[in-house]
Amino acid sequence: MEFRDVILLLHPIAAVVIVFPLIGIVVNRALQTRQRRLQTASGEKSKIPPSAGQEHVQLGRWLTGAVVGIVLLALAYDIFSNIVDQKVWDQNPFKVGLIILMFGVAIASLALLYRAKTRLWRGVFATLTGMSLVVLGCQDGIYRKTDQWYVSHYYYGITAALLMIFSLAILREIYQDRTNRWRTVHIVLNSIALLIFLGQGITGTQSLLEVPLAWQEPYVNQLYGQQCDKKPCTIQLAPAPQPSK
Ligand code: HEM
Ligand code: HEM
Repeated sequence: MEFRDVILLLHPIAAVVIVFPLIGIVVNRALQTRQRRLQTASGEKSKIPPSAGQEHVQLGRWLTGAVVGIVLLALAYDIFSNIVDQKVWDQNPFKVGLIILMFGVAIASLALLYRAKTRLWRGVFATLTGMSLVVLGCQDGIYRKTDQWYVSHYYYGITAALLMIFSLAILREIYQDRTNRWRTVHIVLNSIALLIFLGQGITGTQSLLEVPLAWQEPYVNQLYGQQCDKKPCTIQLAPAPQPSK
């Protein structure tokens, strides 16, 4: 396997090994937190320990970082592969510089969002993190599947990341709000996020089947280009790889 293939695999590996197990624990603690709160509110004595809520929040904070991290990893692979293939550095080094800066802004604003305390700064850093993901997502090289947005791994992936950022941003509001309005907003939005995560498992696995390894790329591109799924076609021999000097 070439270096480029290894980089491509980092995203699905991190999703399977880190993000999905985290989702499992976060959801389990979420259900316990809710059950305990409802039992206590109705005067019942709950067997669920009070630590369930804290564990949900601690692991939820990690989950936000992990989801944003794997999205940045996937976007970086697509964007930098395109920069190398199209030799964008030679034609427009300024653009490459801006893209690198944008990755820096995304990481720095997420780090500051973790530390921000006031509502204003949480709003500012959450917006900055979300905006930088969207701007990076608009760059060349990303397989967006816009014509089939309803099954697009890209659109749902960005939406899930934005929902996680929002959860982190409103964390204090959930605790402070006596009317439980923010709690309800959180439950509704993150139930949607959970469905999206399930979908990401399906569309991501499908993407893994569709994306070729580096040595297969010249052939597989011909298959897509000639629409070989719809009609018979002939695949040309690809030029032999240049020996590295
Ligand atoms: C798939 C992801 C998630 C789901 C399905 C989910 C769902 C829930 C549910 C059902 C509750 C209990 C609400 C109740 O008491 O009725 C809850 C509480 C809470 N969640 Fe999440 N959540 C998720 C991710 C997150 C993340 C990423 C964060 C923060 C970064 C977070 C922060 C909180 C907080 C602060 C509470 C209140 C905990 C308490 O009362 O002790 N959640 N969540
Ligand atoms: C938390 C769940 C996930 C999120 C938020 C997520 C998000 C993303 C995003 C935003 C992209 C870039 C856009 C694109 O190229 O389609 C991407 C690419 C990709 N994802 Fe995921 N993903 C998740 C889970 C998975 C899983 C479980 C797999 C496979 C087992 C996977 C496999 C891939 C592959 C192979 C690509 C590269 C496609 C390409 O370069 O054309 N993803 N993902």
